Amino acid sequence: MTESKKRILTGDRPTGRLHLGHYVGSLQKRAELQNEFDTILIIADLHMLTTKPTREGIDKISSNVHGMVLDYLAAGINPERVTIYLQSMIPEIYELNLILENLVTVNRLSRLPSLKEMAQAAHIDDEEMPFGLLGYPVLQAADILLPRANLVPVGKDNICHVEITREIARRFNNLYGEVFPIPEHMVGDVPTLVGTDNKAKMSKSLDNCIFLSDDKNIVDKKVRGMYTDPKRVRADIPGTVEGNPVFIYHDAFNSNKNEVDDLKQRYQTGNVGDGEVKDKLAKAINEFLSPMRERYAKYESEKGLVEAIVMNGTERMRKIATETMREVRKAMGLSGAWNRIRRSAEKYRKKH
Ligand code: TRP
Repeated sequence: MTESKKRILTGDRPTGRLHLGHYVGSLQKRAELQNEFDTILIIADLHMLTTKPTREGIDKISSNVHGMVLDYLAAGINPERVTIYLQSMIPEIYELNLILENLVTVNRLSRLPSLKEMAQAAHIDDEEMPFGLLGYPVLQAADILLPRANLVPVGKDNICHVEITREIARRFNNLYGEVFPIPEHMVGDVPTLVGTDNKAKMSKSLDNCIFLSDDKNIVDKKVRGMYTDPKRVRADIPGTVEGNPVFIYHDAFNSNKNEVDDLKQRYQTGNVGDGEVKDKLAKAINEFLSPMRERYAKYESEKGLVEAIVMNGTERMRKIATETMREVRKAMGLSGAWNRIRRSAEKYRKKH
């Protein structure tokens, strides 16, 4: 892990298993860039508290972490290269969060559509907005700035949080001196993937997902149940390809582009049944997931391996966190204040 490499910081809340939307939105980029960048993945369990501070949620963290890290590994994240760590075990995050909270306005935060969406998804209305949820993007800024990351691969809904992070980092650097690089965001090839129901983006809470860990039968069944062009009650009725989730998935996951072009052409002219389009899609997705299934089998067979990866990563992150916070306190003059107090106090104690 050479320090001369630029650094990536990104991650997810441990709320459940990862799906195809996560893959094309961000996971794929992480796997692609893991050799070029010193990559750190945060398991953001403190962020989970912003919408779900209950004991039930907290008690599920360890098993959710297990599943999510398995998903990372299956998606091609190489644990020899990548640092994966648990956010709540790094006290410096809480500490930096408090410092950064002073560098952004309530007004700026409360206008963010992402917060409204998260509140809505968690059935929290305006009156019930927790202070911590308003501060979600600031905590995320602390995640990104603590390891002094340069690049943040995220889904589209998180771009505005990276933007806030840039503003906060600039503000910090202006006030106290250059401590933080200004991070860039990066989105995947399909920044938002529609769900199987075509109603919204793929999301666990909406039950419209294909998970990376779904087996062949489940994939076949979910694809068979997918939404397509409702006008096409018969195979000889011309259909619409644009915005049709079945073709969006073909474009994203079917590596046989000729087959996709042929299906689209026949669909638009009323020369193919939905059954054929979906069978070919299910086959393509299963092929796409097949190398992941091999990796699941490999990593699942070694009990404790996933946990050891997280523990190693957390230990490395502790060192990085200590270093940055030393710089932060120095730049801000906080250590100077304490040093002066301590020196006077020591003199006083000697005399009395
Ligand atoms: N906000 C991210 C999500 O939607 C999770 C997250 C927390 C994150 N901290 C981060 C992403 C830092 C990128 C960088 O789940």
